[in-house]
Amino acid sequence: MNHFLTIEGLTKEDLDGLLDDADEFVEVLHRPIPKVPALRGKTVATMFFEPSTRTKMSFEKAAKALSADTMSFSPGTSSLSKGESLKDTVLTIKAMGTDAMVVRHQSTGAPWRIAEWIEQPVLNGGDGAHQHPTQALLDALTIRQHFGSLDGLKIGIVGDIRHSRVARSNAQAFAALGANVTMVAPRTLLPVDPSVFPAAVSEDLDEVLSEFDVVYVLRVQAERGGASVFPSLAEYTARYGVTKDRFARLNPDSIVLHPGPMNRGVEIEGAVADDPRALILDQVFNGVAVRMAVLFRLLGGEHDG
Ligand code: NCD
Repeated sequence: MNHFLTIEGLTKEDLDGLLDDADEFVEVLHRPIPKVPALRGKTVATMFFEPSTRTKMSFEKAAKALSADTMSFSPGTSSLSKGESLKDTVLTIKAMGTDAMVVRHQSTGAPWRIAEWIEQPVLNGGDGAHQHPTQALLDALTIRQHFGSLDGLKIGIVGDIRHSRVARSNAQAFAALGANVTMVAPRTLLPVDPSVFPAAVSEDLDEVLSEFDVVYVLRVQAERGGASVFPSLAEYTARYGVTKDRFARLNPDSIVLHPGPMNRGVEIEGAVADDPRALILDQVFNGVAVRMAVLFRLLGGEHDG
């Protein structure tokens, strides 16, 4: 593995291997001193051209837990505002000495472009509405921890699928790991050709709700136009929100996941988000472990167990 850009093309064995490594890093993160020296002397740069709370801090925490140093690029206070190009920005940061770049960018494909400009590993922290591969890994890890395996599970991905890189990466990862995935959204929030997903499609959440072992709730991505395609947020919530009422109709062994950031009261009711069967903060914790697994794969280093 030279870069980590996409879930597409990864096999069940590839994914299980990364999740097995992540399990070991979960154990490291539970130690009194949650740190190993594996990447001492390496530097990881986080370059987030789009807002982020979880992904950026999680990559930084993961790098530090492996004893790497981190550098952080913030577009708002950078020379982008003076007209510096993406390529010059990347080459500038590379010249300071970085061993890997974690990139989030609003344009689909930006991390692939960067991977052509530098020889160091590039990790995709989310590109446009395309891919968010470490999100898919952390979600798969959370489900695997809870159920033991994804094989044969029924997983519903509900919400703004058209604008979601998470939906795409997750559907690919869950399907590769043997789950039966259903994408649930109004027609206006599905891609033009929903057959791009290895998944069934439903426009009626109430019809399919009780089948699911996992309900994966997506945010309505207003900044990508997601809120403009239905009459009001209240109408969206009435048909697609994971409300207390709908939660009560779920299979009692099912779990609810959300990648964050949540819009409480829109796609998920607060009481559902705070229920013990909503594993949203476990997802966040697991994010650090899967990012350690990916950084460790890409940057090598001695594994001290
Ligand atoms: C997501 C993203 O940015 O793709 N968040 C995340 O990384 N956990 C989802 C979103 O913004 O809705």
